[in-house]
Amino acid sequence: MELDLAIVGGTVVTASDTIACDVGILGDKIVTLGRELKAKRVIDASGLLVMPGGIDSHVHIAQPSGPEVTMADDFASATASAAAGGNTMVLPFALQQRGTSLRAAVEEYRREAEGECYVDTAFHLIISDPTPEVLGQELPALIKDGYTSFKIFMTYDDLVLRDREILDVFDVARREGALVMVHAEGYDAIRYMTERLEREGKTSSYYHAVSRPEIVEREATHRAISHAELVDVPVMIVHVSGREAMEQIRWAQTRGLKVYAETCPQYITLTADDLRDLNMDMSGAKYVCSPPPRDAESQEAIWEGLRNGIFQTFSSDHCPFLFNSPAGKLNPKSRTSFRWVPNGIPGVETRLPILFSEGVVKGRISLNRFVELTSTNHAKLYGLYPKKGSIGVGFDADIVLWDPERKETIRQDILHHGSDYTPWEGFEVTGWPVMTLLRGKVVSNAGAIVGEKGRGQILARELSTYARSSQHAS
Ligand code: URP
Ligand code: ZN
Ligand code: ZN
Ligand code: ZN
Repeated sequence: MELDLAIVGGTVVTASDTIACDVGILGDKIVTLGRELKAKRVIDASGLLVMPGGIDSHVHIAQPSGPEVTMADDFASATASAAAGGNTMVLPFALQQRGTSLRAAVEEYRREAEGECYVDTAFHLIISDPTPEVLGQELPALIKDGYTSFKIFMTYDDLVLRDREILDVFDVARREGALVMVHAEGYDAIRYMTERLEREGKTSSYYHAVSRPEIVEREATHRAISHAELVDVPVMIVHVSGREAMEQIRWAQTRGLKVYAETCPQYITLTADDLRDLNMDMSGAKYVCSPPPRDAESQEAIWEGLRNGIFQTFSSDHCPFLFNSPAGKLNPKSRTSFRWVPNGIPGVETRLPILFSEGVVKGRISLNRFVELTSTNHAKLYGLYPKKGSIGVGFDADIVLWDPERKETIRQDILHHGSDYTPWEGFEVTGWPVMTLLRGKVVSNAGAIVGEKGRGQILARELSTYARSSQHAS
């Protein structure tokens, strides 16, 4: 059998090994690892790392975000940006709006994504209205159809679930073996803080961070963990921002509970001070996301958790808005209070360079841990393993060729996302993706998107073994 493609002369890095060898590809798949492989086409990877393509299991694309506000990416721009940043798969959310069917939401997102994606895509669900119909029929049926994970919110007017609703949703997840992702910030405490700050005239973007301090995140994290323990269901606490929430997770993990955790680039590189406006220009709004970035001590705490295994995944929480637009961060109401600034920042393209540079190059984490945190664990936790998430015989040929020595300065004008700014403007990194291959075909090369739009598939996922309750026998 003649190989279609061989990637030769590079250093293959997986979550467990770092080995100088060639990768042989036939069709969509990796079929051999070896030396001096021959193929119809050969890519020289000398001096480069050959790693599984990044999987970003937390991105928001084309999600309704309140009246008059629109997200800055559609599926084409978000997945092009992902590919340029070394990713071969993203997991966005299909959001159920209150009073609507979950199934209808899923169909609508699928229609929007169909034929538009440059990398593979699979949807999580967001459940905002857990009616008996949704919990009894729609959700179990969707889980069987391959939507094997979903997110719930403990805050936001349009999304927040009451404790009893959380327990009922957890119960469905336990029965069906799905993984629940939890946005853990306490609704009532945030409301209280927001109203107090507004009464004091403290309405600029910076007070977004003051209105949702670590205590609020810690309380909700503890409550989510307690409910999960009561129901006996694993949970994933997403976008953990600092020590307070992390210590709740460590406490749960030490007690043997299946509590998983995710963190993001903003929590190792940004601080609440970034939310301060320079000369009343609203520039702080560029950094408004939830939970908010904290301080230098919190960043150190997050590194500790990345090193010692408290965190399984490092995702972007890509949630792109235009800055300079009435449909984005500068909508008319956002000038009256931080409460109206859309929450979220773009980051699908910069996730890997930031973790590589700040983590691997600065000696805080190993190369293998980098791969685990950016690809392998995402595949394992969300039912994509062993199809995705590693370099080995039988895996999809989803590969990033990485120059570990290349120095770049992150700038808006080199990125491919739909947003009009990056929170990391001027941030210097060492290490950069030079080529991304999706199932054996080049999708991004030297900063240019060369793949075919629509080659990215919308995938169904398996149940994850990590989502099994402790009582589940098989
Ligand atoms: O501020 C954020 N993170 N926006 C995205 C939505 C979410 O809660 O993940
Ligand atoms: Zn969230
Ligand atoms: Zn998010
Ligand atoms: Zn079973």
